[in-house]
Amino acid sequence: MYDILNEWDNASKEWIESLKINQVRTNILIPETLKILGEIKGKRILDLGCGEGEYSRLFASKGAIVTGVDYSENLINEALKHSQTNEIEYFVRDACFLEGIEDEKFDFVVSTMCLMAIENIESAINEAYRVLKPGGEFLISILHPCFGFKDYFNEGPYREILSEHFGKPITFWHKTLSKTINPMLNVGFILRLLYEPQFSNDNSQIPKILLLKFNK
Ligand SMILES: C[S@@+](CC[C@H](N)C(=O)[O-])C[C@H]1O[C@@H](n2cnc3c(N)ncnc32)[C@H](O)[C@@H]1O
Repeated sequence: MYDILNEWDNASKEWIESLKINQVRTNILIPETLKILGEIKGKRILDLGCGEGEYSRLFASKGAIVTGVDYSENLINEALKHSQTNEIEYFVRDACFLEGIEDEKFDFVVSTMCLMAIENIESAINEAYRVLKPGGEFLISILHPCFGFKDYFNEGPYREILSEHFGKPITFWHKTLSKTINPMLNVGFILRLLYEPQFSNDNSQIPKILLLKFNK
């Protein structure tokens, strides 16, 4: 019904353009993600849903050995344009089916603002678990599922124009907090951190972003 691949592919230029003014990402998501990850030098990281690769490049600049995967070929091509020689490997892959990526390869799987774009998160979570080493860390950021939805229990797709850069809406999948976290616990992940950053220039007192850290 919803052609997610084409939505992100078609909106790839708009997404890249919108990143230039994305204050939440620049001022909160990126620094908090790096702070939570801590020392990553020499570690293998999978950037799951890597988009145009900014996080992958940041991880590589800190000495990590990085693999970036994304469903959108246009975004992977953009990531490759910024990549010098073979510093980061990129693959076009569905996060729900990480074909060709071996078991227990990574110290970290990091997925920033991607899981809301996936209908079947159970499969993506199972794949993240499979490719992590025992003890490895799974760090995700998502739109906070508890606020901003009028009908919290009404799970399913919703379509949103992300910013003025976008001509068309993108499909996301609303899931309750339990439907987000329980699949992680069911597969065997251990929840280590639940973090709701407060935006300093926001008077609404509503957390918009949720970061979760798990260990395998
Ligand atoms: C909001 S963007 C975030 C991109 C990147 N993680 C970042 O923070 O800049 C969501 C990304 O998820 C990707 N995506 C959506 N569904 C996917 C899937 N099933 N498998 C892999 N990537 C997917 C999109 O192509 C897009 O790059």
